[in-house]
Amino acid sequence: MEKINKVLLLGSNGQIGSNIKKKLFKIGKKNKCLSKQELNLENLVSIEKSLNKIKPNMIINAAAFTKVDEAEIKKKKCYKINVLSTKKIADWCYKNNCFLVHYSTVYIFDGKNNKDWKENNKPKPINFYGKSKLEAEKKIFSSKCNYLILRLNWIYSDYGNNFPSKIIKKIKKEKNLSIVNDQFGTPNHAEFISNISIKILQKIINSKINPKILNISARGKTNYYKLTEKILNKLGSAFQSCNLIPIDSYTYRKLGKNTPIVKRPSNSLLNLRKLENFLNVKMPYWDQIFEKKIKKLIKNTLKNY
Ligand SMILES: NC(=O)c1ccc[n+]([C@@H]2O[C@H](COP(=O)([O-])OP(=O)(O)OC[C@H]3O[C@@H](n4cnc5c(N)ncnc54)[C@H](OP(=O)(O)O)[C@@H]3O)[C@@H](O)[C@H]2O)c1
Repeated sequence: MEKINKVLLLGSNGQIGSNIKKKLFKIGKKNKCLSKQELNLENLVSIEKSLNKIKPNMIINAAAFTKVDEAEIKKKKCYKINVLSTKKIADWCYKNNCFLVHYSTVYIFDGKNNKDWKENNKPKPINFYGKSKLEAEKKIFSSKCNYLILRLNWIYSDYGNNFPSKIIKKIKKEKNLSIVNDQFGTPNHAEFISNISIKILQKIINSKINPKILNISARGKTNYYKLTEKILNKLGSAFQSCNLIPIDSYTYRKLGKNTPIVKRPSNSLLNLRKLENFLNVKMPYWDQIFEKKIKKLIKNTLKNY
C-alpha cells in the first residue's frame, strides 16, 4: 500500500461515520468527509464524478441503508445504496489504486449457530438488508480492489436511531412492552467501534499486513429483553410503571399484523480471535462501556423526544 495522505469518509453523519470523522486526522492529512447531502449514493453517476474530483487514496465507507425493517419494503432503494454504490466505489478503487475500508454486518449470517461467528463462516442472510450487505461484500471481492471489510453487530451511539434510543421512547409511552428474549448479541458503542477501526487502520498502514476481513465487537453477550431491563433500571423511578414482557421472536413477528416484522438472526455474536490477535489486545466487556455511555444516551433521547 502506498502512503495514505487523503482519506475520504462516506456517511460522515451516521453513528459510525460521525465518530470516525473525529479521529480521521490520525490516518491522513488531507481528508474529506461527505454526508448524504453532499454525495447521495443513490445517484450512481455522481459517485465516479466525486471520486475523480477528490482522488482519495483511502475510502472509508460508513454509509449504508441501515433500516432493517424498511429494507424489506424499499428493496430497490436498499439495493442501490448498499450494493450498486459499493460496486461503483470498489471498481473506482481498483482502477485508481485506492484502499477501500467498508463496514459490513453479522446479518450476512443466518444466526443459526451456537458459537460466535468467525470471519470465514459461510454467510446465509435471512432478510433483505443482510442479503444486500452480503452482495456488497461480493462486489468488493470481484472488483479486485485492495479492501478491508469490518463486520459489526449491535451498534448504538449517543445520538441516532438505535435499539436503546428506540426502547427509551417506547418505555416512556407504553404500559406493557413485549421484548424478544431469544436474539443474542453484543451492544457496541459507535465511538468504541470507531476507535478500534482507527487502530486497525494505523496497524495496517504501519505493518503493511492486511487482515482483509475483521469482526469488531466488545466481549460478552446479552439479549434484547435483558438489555431493555438494564435500560429501564437506568431510567429511574419515573419510568418504572412500564411492564416488560419477555417474548420469543416467532410470537413477536406474528404480532406485527399489517406491517410484518422482519426475521433477524438469533445469534449475532462475533468471534474476536482474529481481531485480538491482529491488535494484540483483549477487547473490553460491552457492559463496562455501556455503563459509561447510557446516561448521555438517555439524556439525548429524552431531550429530543
Ligand atoms: N447500526 C447497526 O447496528 C449496525 C450493525 C452492523 C453493521 N452496521 C453497518 O455499519 C455501517 C454504519 O452503520 P451506522 O450504524 O453508522 O448507520 P447509520 O447511523 O444509519 O449511518 C449510515 C449513514 O449512511 C448514510 N446514508 C444513507 N443513505 C445514503 C445515501 N443514499 N447516500 C449517502 N449516504 C447515505 C446515512 O445518512 P442519513 O443519516 O442522512 O440518512 C447515515 O449517515 C453500515 O455499513 C451498517 O450496515 C451497522
